[in-house]
Amino acid sequence: MKYFIHTYGCQMNIHDSEKIAGILESMGYTVCDKAEDADIIVFNTCCIRETAEQKIYGHIGLVKKLKREKPELITVVCGCMSQQEGVAAKIRESYPFVDIVLGTGNLNLLQDAIVAAQKKRKFVDVNFMQYKEEDFLTSRTSYPNAWVNINYGCNNFCTYCIVPYVRGRERSRRSEDIIAEVRNLLSEGYKEITLLGQNVNSYGHDLDSDISFAQLLHKLGAMPGKFRLRFMTSHPKDLSQDVIDAIAEYPNICDNIHLPVQSGSTEILRKMNRHYTRDDYFAIVDKIRAKLPDVGITTDIMVGFPGETEQDFEDTLDLVRKVKFSSAFCFVYSRRKGTPAYSMEQIPYAVKKKRITELIACQNEVTKQISQYMVGKQYEVLVEGENFHYKNTMCGRTESGRLVNFQCDPSRIGEFVTVKIERASSATLWGSIVTEEK
Ligand code: SAH
Ligand code: SF4
Ligand code: F3S
Repeated sequence: MKYFIHTYGCQMNIHDSEKIAGILESMGYTVCDKAEDADIIVFNTCCIRETAEQKIYGHIGLVKKLKREKPELITVVCGCMSQQEGVAAKIRESYPFVDIVLGTGNLNLLQDAIVAAQKKRKFVDVNFMQYKEEDFLTSRTSYPNAWVNINYGCNNFCTYCIVPYVRGRERSRRSEDIIAEVRNLLSEGYKEITLLGQNVNSYGHDLDSDISFAQLLHKLGAMPGKFRLRFMTSHPKDLSQDVIDAIAEYPNICDNIHLPVQSGSTEILRKMNRHYTRDDYFAIVDKIRAKLPDVGITTDIMVGFPGETEQDFEDTLDLVRKVKFSSAFCFVYSRRKGTPAYSMEQIPYAVKKKRITELIACQNEVTKQISQYMVGKQYEVLVEGENFHYKNTMCGRTESGRLVNFQCDPSRIGEFVTVKIERASSATLWGSIVTEEK
């Protein structure tokens, strides 16, 4: 019996798919490369933007034919899209060949659901039940990196964002559980741990034991052995000096912060409910760089939020030029039903399109400058895996988070090496290994 998982969206979903794989493997399924060969197909969905959703509905539609050829095929739709109001009903109606619909908060029901589906019974349940991480035997797919959830959900309600509605309220895992999981992963040989939360900086606020994100970093950073610790995402309003100090104190914590700015206009940030101004953001960046001069700061930026004027957009470009992000994920605002921004006055698609092109060109210019600066210098890189775009090429990241391509034997995945950057084509860095350390 074989399984195939389509994973869409962010790192949360990538990690949830590892939990799903764990459940399926404990039931005797093994992974396969193609949906056509599978006995069970899982769609772990995302609904952050409309384009993501449309693509997923298209992919689910393709299963109809497979199901006709193989009636015992089990199809599961889970994740953020199915957690949205009305979607479970829509799937039942328009995609009757789907056997199981689960949400984001009840993955623990998957095994029961599959048993029901094997008996030809539909299983549709999107109630939130807050499963425990420890209930799963995660089947990890990202060695030498391992994802570790520290908090789930979000309480921030940025006015454009669907996440608080589909991932529920913020819940922190107990620090003892996180520490035990990280300790295990390191003893199994993982070299990079990435802590996950929609807003890692508010970790612990909801726990009785009074532990903050900075205190958690101290406990994890002090663990013995050489490894890398990263985390995402940091909301600028909550990034405290304690966290910056902890990054500076422990060599194992990477000088790399993902700090989504969303917009460079104070007025748009206010309408987005982000709780910081343009100047606040500059001040946070200064605070970070004062303590971590080699830090790589990455970001998310959106264009075309309702009411964004030409001047607001110019302010975003200006911020991008000034902050010099090492990379930026740039998005066109997408209207999400159920969010406050849905009913604000929208701006035309043509304007959004022009702005996204300009924004990407602006960031590319910044990235190019940083890349040129890196040429000729040496960086420690963790060998992470093969680069799928270039044959016989491995890749890995610098501590600051920049991806580098180089040649080496695949058996060296998981080793730390020193790479000299030899050339750069705007966003892509090429180098070669100069010295070797285990
Ligand atoms: N919790 C993280 C981000 C989660 S979503 C944070 O607060 O930063 C990842 C990114 O998707 C966001 O940073 C935002 O830039 C983008 N995004 C969220 N909602 C969106 C929407 N409706 N349209 C376009 N982009 C959106
Ligand atoms: Fe969405 Fe804002 Fe929460 Fe991030 S902080 S998940 S952007 S509501
Ligand atoms: Fe992530 Fe998409 Fe859900 S970005 S949290 S998978 S809506």
